[in-house]
Formats: sequence, C-alpha cells, structure tokens
Amino acid sequence: MSGLEHMPRFVTFEGGEGAGKSTQMRLLAERLQAGGARVTLTREPGGTLMAERIRALLVTGRPDDLDGRAELLLMLAARVEHVRGLIRPALARGEVVLCDRFADSTMAYQGFGRGMDLEWLALLNRFVLGDLLPERTLLLDIDPGAGLARAGRASGGENRFEQEKLSFHQRVRAGFLELAASQPGRFRVIDATGEVAAVAEAVWEAYRS
Ligand code: TMP
Repeated sequence: MSGLEHMPRFVTFEGGEGAGKSTQMRLLAERLQAGGARVTLTREPGGTLMAERIRALLVTGRPDDLDGRAELLLMLAARVEHVRGLIRPALARGEVVLCDRFADSTMAYQGFGRGMDLEWLALLNRFVLGDLLPERTLLLDIDPGAGLARAGRASGGENRFEQEKLSFHQRVRAGFLELAASQPGRFRVIDATGEVAAVAEAVWEAYRS
C-alpha cells in the first residue's frame, strides 16, 4: 500500500455525542481503501453478535435503568467479546481497524462523567485488553450543546446517554481533553465544529502525523 505501510493500523475515534465520529470514520476508510488498504470499520459498544446484544441494553431506555456499576461491567463485557471476536482477528489478517469509541470512552463517561475511580477503570481496561492499545486515537472535540443538537436528530432511539444533563456531557468533554493531554503521543485532538470536508482533511492529517 503506497506510502501507508508505517501508518497506524488500530485507530480509535473518540468524542462526545454528535461529534461526527461515524461519518469521519467512513471518510477515512474510503481514503485508506483508495490507497489499497483493507479496512475494518467497527464500533463500541458493539461490533460482534453478543456485543451488539449488550449494546442494546446500554443505549436504550432511561439513564436510571442501570446502576453505574452494571453499566460499566456491561461495557467491559462487550469489549471483551469485541476484542476477541473482531479486533484481534482483523489486525492479525493485516487489516486497518477503525473503531468508533473504545477504552477511552470508559474513562471519559464512567470515569469523568459518572465519577468512578480512574485508576480502577484503567486497571479494568488493562484486564480486558491485555497488551492491546490503539496506535492512534482521534478525538473529535465539539461543544456538548452543539453536539447533542446534532445527535438528537440521528439517535434512532439509542439515546440513554443523550438524556443525561448537559453538565454530565461537559465533564465527559473535559475528561477526553485531559486524557488527550496526558497521552499526546497517541491522541490527536480535532476541532469537529466545521464542515464535514474540512474536518475530514484534519482527520487525514492527524491520522498521518
Ligand atoms: P454511540 O452512540 O456513540 O455509539 O455510543 C453509545 C454510548 O455509549 C455513548 O453515549 C457513549 C457510551 N459509552 C460509554 O459510556 N462507555 C464506553 O466505554 C463506551 C464504549 C461507550
């Protein structure tokens, strides 16, 4: 694949609601495929049969339908199945894996959003992932007010998290930015407020940088 041999192969997209992650992921995939790469697109929670079943429990209904601990353990259970059933096999086949949310969402939502202990969460993520870490994490940053307005239009009923207060989403955003600042080698922060094409260009540059 011309010029892309040394580019990251496990890439995660992170950010708040309505940041445009899935659109941007698709556009990056098209660009990589045009360069000859084989690309797997996936998402969390979800990505395999069982993980998608768990997702349905997590993203529908009311915020209080699940205790925060149950929510956390379901997120992790879905991740175990996803890593084992889809991500590791795709990487082993030499594919580029683009994942819409991953372990950093647990730190941002359950940690910064719900107030769970960050050290614990990091340990649990390590328990689930072993040595697997994204090589590049693209954080699409947007003001939660603007993001929620976009997400509301596209949610299709998967809105258990969107129903949380604005202050929750503001903590999540600040958390993501803090995670990015603490791991500058892996993270790139992208302003997601602009036009789709302009954000796509920034994503491409951030992927290659
Ligand atoms: P999505 O709608 O962006 O696909 O994500 C579903 C929701 O799940 C989103 O609001 C963020 C939340 N989430 C967590 O709270 N913790 C996690 O670890 C992950 C992967 C997602």
